[in-house]
Amino acid sequence: MKILVTGGAGFIGSHTCVELMNAGHEVVVIDNLCNSSEKSMERVKEITGKDLAFYKGDILDRDCLNTIFTEHKIDAVIHFAGLKAVGESVYKPWEYYNNNITGTLTLTDVMRAHDVKNLIFSSSATVYGDPAEIPITENCPKGKCTNPYGWTKSMLEQILTDLHTADNSWNVILLRYFNPIGAHPTGLMGEDPNGIPNNLMPYITQVAIGKLPELGIFGNDYDTPDGTCIRDYIHVCDLATGHVAALKKIEEKAGLCIYNLGTGVGYSVLDVVNNFMEATGVNVAYSMKPRREGDVPQCYSSAQKAKEELGWEAKYGIKEMCRDSWNWQTKNPNGYKD
Ligand code: NAD
Ligand code: WQD
Repeated sequence: MKILVTGGAGFIGSHTCVELMNAGHEVVVIDNLCNSSEKSMERVKEITGKDLAFYKGDILDRDCLNTIFTEHKIDAVIHFAGLKAVGESVYKPWEYYNNNITGTLTLTDVMRAHDVKNLIFSSSATVYGDPAEIPITENCPKGKCTNPYGWTKSMLEQILTDLHTADNSWNVILLRYFNPIGAHPTGLMGEDPNGIPNNLMPYITQVAIGKLPELGIFGNDYDTPDGTCIRDYIHVCDLATGHVAALKKIEEKAGLCIYNLGTGVGYSVLDVVNNFMEATGVNVAYSMKPRREGDVPQCYSSAQKAKEELGWEAKYGIKEMCRDSWNWQTKNPNGYKD
C-alpha cells in the first residue's frame, strides 16, 4: 500500500516509516518540522535502504495536502502530526486546538475529496483520564482529561467516530498509545525533545549523560507498592509494528476500531530508574519531589484486544527499552542537532 504518514519525521512517525517500508509499503511523509528534524528522514532511508517522498508542509495547508493526494495514489493515512506537550497545552490551548483539531479536520476533508477514507489515528491513554479500571481495556469509559492536549485527543476520537457513523465507507482505527520510550536499536533514530524534557525517559538519559544534575521523582506517596506512579512503557519499535498490524485491519475494511497499544505491564518510576541503571551500568541521581499536577497513580493497558484482533503484541521488555534509549542518547548527545 502507499501510505501518507503525517508527522512522519517525529519520534513515533519516523520509527513507523521504517517498519512500514520494511513491510513493503511505500511511504509519503508530510511534516512541518515544528518538533522534528528532516535528518530523521535520512536515517529512515539509511536503515531501510529504501527511498520515501518527503513534503515539508503543514496539515493545515489544504493546497499542500491537495498536491500530495494528486501526485500520489494514497491508500491510507497514518496521522501522527500534532502538538503533544501536555504542560505547554495548558498555556497555549488555542494553538493546540487549532493545530490538532483544525489540522485533522482539514486532513480528513482533503482525504474525502480524494476518496481516501482509510485512517489510523494516534490517540493516547490520556483519553481514559483517571482510569475506571486497571488494567485498562478498550471498554473502559473515557474520562476527564486534565489538559487541553488530552482533550484534543478525546475530541478527535469523537469527531472521527462521528465521521464513520455518518459515512460507513470510512475505515478508522484509533490507536491509544501508552508510554512510548526506547529508540531504534541501531542508535540512528530516537526521541529528540527540545529543551528540558517533560517525559521520564529522556529526563533519565539526560541525567545519566550529565546534561541534567538529577531526576526529580514526582511523588512517592501514591497508593502503589513503592509509592511512585505506575505506567505502561512500550518500546517505540513495538508501537511502530502495531501500525503495520493495524493497516491489515484497514485492508479488511473493518470500519471503526479502537485498540490500546501497550505491553500490559506496569512499572513504577523507581522500577524504571532501577532497570535503567541495571541495563546500562550508569548511575542516575534522583530525589523525591512533590506530586506533579494531573498525574494519575496508575495507568497500564490490557493488551489483549490488539493481540487477538491484530495479531500484534509488544516484543521488547523494559531492559531493552532502557538499553536502546541510552544507546540513542550516547550516540547522539544532542539528538539530531549538530
Ligand atoms: P513528535 O512531536 O515527535 O511528532 C509529531 C510530528 O508532527 C512532529 O514531527 C511535528 O513536527 C509534526 N507536526 C506537528 N504539527 C504539525 C502540522 N500542523 N503539520 C505537519 N506536521 C506537524 O511526537 P510523537 O511522540 O512522535 O507523537 C506522535 C503522535 O502520537 C502525536 O499525535 C502524539 O500526540 C501522539 N502520542 C504520543 C505519545 C508520546 O508519549 N510520545 C503518546 C500518545 C500519543
Ligand atoms: C511518567 C511518570 C511522572 C518526569 C505523558 C502524557 C500522556 C502521553 C504519554 C501523549 C509519571 C514521572 C516524569 C520526571 C517523574 N503522551 N516523572 N519525573 O505523564 O505518564 O504521560 O506522555 O499522549 O498524555 O501525559 O509520562 O513520561 O511524563 O511521566 O517522576 O521528570 O514519570 O510523574 O509518573 P505520562 P511521563
